[in-house]
Amino acid sequence: MCRPEEELSLKDRALAVSAEGIVIVDARMRDMPLIYVNEGFERLTGYPAAEVMGKNCRFLQGPDTDPVSLQRLRSALRENRECTVLLLNNRKDGSTFWNRLSITPIRDSAGQVTHFIGVQSDVTAEQNALQALEKSNQQLEEANRGLREDLEAAALVQQSFLPSAHPATPGVTWAWMFRPCAGVAGDMFGAFPLDGQRVAAYILDVSGHGVASALLSVTLSRMLIPDPGSYQAGEAGAGAQSGNQSPAQVLETLNRRFPLDPRTTQYFTMVYGILEPETRSFHYASAGHWGPVHVPKRGEAAILEPGGLPIGLFPGSAYSDQVLQMSPGDRLYLYTDGFIEAEDAQDRAFGLQRLIHSLASARHLSLDQSVSALTREVELWRGTSEFEDDLSILSFEITVS
Ligand SMILES: Cc1cc2nc3c(=O)[nH]c(=O)nc-3n(C[C@H](O)[C@H](O)[C@H](O)COP(=O)(O)O)c2cc1C
Repeated sequence: MCRPEEELSLKDRALAVSAEGIVIVDARMRDMPLIYVNEGFERLTGYPAAEVMGKNCRFLQGPDTDPVSLQRLRSALRENRECTVLLLNNRKDGSTFWNRLSITPIRDSAGQVTHFIGVQSDVTAEQNALQALEKSNQQLEEANRGLREDLEAAALVQQSFLPSAHPATPGVTWAWMFRPCAGVAGDMFGAFPLDGQRVAAYILDVSGHGVASALLSVTLSRMLIPDPGSYQAGEAGAGAQSGNQSPAQVLETLNRRFPLDPRTTQYFTMVYGILEPETRSFHYASAGHWGPVHVPKRGEAAILEPGGLPIGLFPGSAYSDQVLQMSPGDRLYLYTDGFIEAEDAQDRAFGLQRLIHSLASARHLSLDQSVSALTREVELWRGTSEFEDDLSILSFEITVS
């Protein structure tokens, strides 16, 4: 135990050596003058005690001191209560510092407030770091907004390349669904007349997803769409657009034109087919893509033979033409692996059998409804409408009897 006078000098010394500024003002005197400042205050502000004694602390304020914080201080003083505020203050040399000021009333034995004690902490470093963080957050947000806007614009461009209306093919109805998982997709499909009689239909899936895959899928869709004038004028254009190539030749042409670039390592899988509504035959070739699902009007639904290697992986890959003879009421679905690989909460894939079963059991629904039913079923399987891969499906039905 210290003797009373020792205890007093210990408190004096403790106050003196404190790193914080500590001041006491007399609340009974006009304008609350300073009656004590410790060494911490002198170090913090650069003002020697002798120079500030008897003054009100507002001499530390400058034009940038926040008026709202000052208003809070005034209210607390008026109501004789504690208060903590953040103030921008000026040192004697004119430099500024962030002062976290706490004031507390001191009462006499009758409960009357006689003094206020103020503790000043220099929180400049903290405050600067916070402001820098806020600024970089703001910059990040702006960059993010820019990226989002870019992505939305890119998604619009991509969607504008999807079929906008059903190809005018008497005796055939169409339905499709396109659901990119990241705004833009590596999936793409299309259906377009080739020469007034035949109609081409394709679906493709570029490896990966997002912007990089979408750049290639959009390029491909532009390449594949024929010049509407060419078949009307009876022109035999070059490449896939002409309609003079068989599906296998179209895939071989694409394989030549899109060899694997080691920098991007992009490749794609695809089914390309040509439908002759008159003979109801669908000539198609596949490049490493899941086989289309055939849902006949009568009989069992089945997956068509997949075949070939993905495009871009190996130069000189050969593809073979297949024919599916369809009958009135038959349906064919071209789809991407987003359906098959969609996983539930236990990481189990939706799988091919469920896909075939869903499409077969939707046979009594319209073509459009069968596509929606499958989508709903996959969503239920996942337990969310968020997918990790793009989902696309293109389907048609032979309607003539
Ligand atoms: C104990 C105590 C310590 C204070 N310390 C500071 C300070 O470090 N910096 C400051 O800008 N104001 C400080 N003030 C606030 C001012 O002294 C004053 O109360 C404030 O500017 C509001 O009053 P006004 O409108 O009369 O200026 C302190 C007030 C008290 C009671």
